Amino acid sequence: MDTKLLFQDAAGFATPMLAVFAVDIATEIDADPLPALLSTSDAVTNAAAKVIASGEFKAAFGETLLLHAPNGLKAERLLLVGLGKAGSLSVNEVRRGAGVAVRAAKPRGLTQIAIIFPEDHALSDEHLDELPCLLMSRAVVEGALLADPDYDTYKTTRKETALQTLSIVAKENEKSTRAEIQDGFNEGLIIAGAQNFTRSLVNEPGNVLTPTVLGQRAAEMCAEMGLKCEVFSTEKLHELKMGAFWAVAQGSAEPPALIVMTYEPKLEKGKSPAKDAPVIGLVGKGITFDTGGISIKPADGMEKMKYDMAGAGAMIGAMRAIAQLKPKVKVISVVCSAENMPGGKAFKPGDVVTAMSGKTIEIINTDAEGRLVLADGLHYAKTLGCTHLIDAATLTGACVVALGMVNAGLFSNDDKTCEKFLDAMNISGEKFWRLPCTDDYRELINSQIADIRNTGGTRWGGAITAALFLREFVGDTPWVHLDIAGCAWNDETKPAIAKGPTGIGVRSILEWVRSYSA
Ligand code: BES
Ligand code: ZN
Ligand code: ZN
Repeated sequence: MDTKLLFQDAAGFATPMLAVFAVDIATEIDADPLPALLSTSDAVTNAAAKVIASGEFKAAFGETLLLHAPNGLKAERLLLVGLGKAGSLSVNEVRRGAGVAVRAAKPRGLTQIAIIFPEDHALSDEHLDELPCLLMSRAVVEGALLADPDYDTYKTTRKETALQTLSIVAKENEKSTRAEIQDGFNEGLIIAGAQNFTRSLVNEPGNVLTPTVLGQRAAEMCAEMGLKCEVFSTEKLHELKMGAFWAVAQGSAEPPALIVMTYEPKLEKGKSPAKDAPVIGLVGKGITFDTGGISIKPADGMEKMKYDMAGAGAMIGAMRAIAQLKPKVKVISVVCSAENMPGGKAFKPGDVVTAMSGKTIEIINTDAEGRLVLADGLHYAKTLGCTHLIDAATLTGACVVALGMVNAGLFSNDDKTCEKFLDAMNISGEKFWRLPCTDDYRELINSQIADIRNTGGTRWGGAITAALFLREFVGDTPWVHLDIAGCAWNDETKPAIAKGPTGIGVRSILEWVRSYSA
């Protein structure tokens, strides 16, 4: 895709479709909507004046209206995109609004679109201060790019509908400087590119994306982006005594992959790294297909378990963006990838395995496999020198029961670290909700025969007992755990994004890592 940022008057920009955002500036609760365009171009305002006066367009969030041959504009079409109430406008509406614009172009067969960078005059100054221009610019690009892919990848009748040109038409002023808009634009391209890369991995079927292939895809990405990448398999798992990871992997004909990606910041000349500099560890669950193993899952919906590697995908995507945005902090990502299969060699309920940390684990349910691979991944990340850890995993159905498909689960053993993550999340626009990870639930994972067992023995609080299981392997290291089971896959197409893989986590993990940049 060709992406351009132009500083010029929108009226003079020739394009098949020019999109302009609109907000409802009515403040009284029961008042009729008062749509106002977020454009300072008189020609754009005039072109839309009649339809706005008609009351047909209310600027509700997600509402669109298309005008052909708009008077006084070089564009062939003008698309009005509602962002809802002016008083509650946030960067998130801008991101999703840009997505709505792109998804309105697709069914019309339009592959070139221009979006007017939201300009201020309809918003109060006070409100504008809460909408930093760099983030707005970033959000427009992110929203537009994330709206682009459709996941009908393997249809032989597939029609190419990918955008060919995305132009952002902007005007600088005191509040929105050219440099900030440009920086936001550049960041948006990198971040959305990384998130779409993650989505392309998560989209792949289990027969295509085996652990070995996931390792290859990660290695290719790292080679392209200048990251160090090592991909290990069975032998290394044995060498490191990763008994928990191996227990999951042993039942499959597909060998596991232990993927280690490293980003080292470039030091300024003559400087050596600070002794107490943090090293961030990103650990991902990469189950390329989860049958449940001997504790096999019901057939209904099992096909979706190809996305059980979405945590791994998020980490690989985050590393791609880190390589390009170059924060001043060392980052190591450990991805544990395996296929969870039943069979003559599979692990069984009742088995006792020894994790890399030395802890023994009684297997109660072979479908609680994600926590087993992560146990060894988290411990290994610590031995590699990580001082702060984050993991992402499609870990529990219980988390989906608790939070639905809007918020993903967030757990932490350290309030300060968790707060940093919440700040990152506010920038990224992703939604996570903190759930408890406290000793009150700890007894549920006690085992009669071993140090711990791999389930809480009850469905109640299942997301929490899973998090507590992981906590056993991070010890005192500040750690954040993301349970993305409910948010990694969209079952329905939404106004701003296609159905299929979402790439949840990439943006927040990246932002959290950047918050440690020296
Ligand atoms: N991969 C699943 C969790 C999952 C569920 C992901 C729904 C995406 C959507 C995980 O490995 C699993 O099967 N967890 C079990 C744990 C239970 C056996 C303690 C679950 O949630 O049922
Ligand atoms: Zn499972
Ligand atoms: Zn799983």
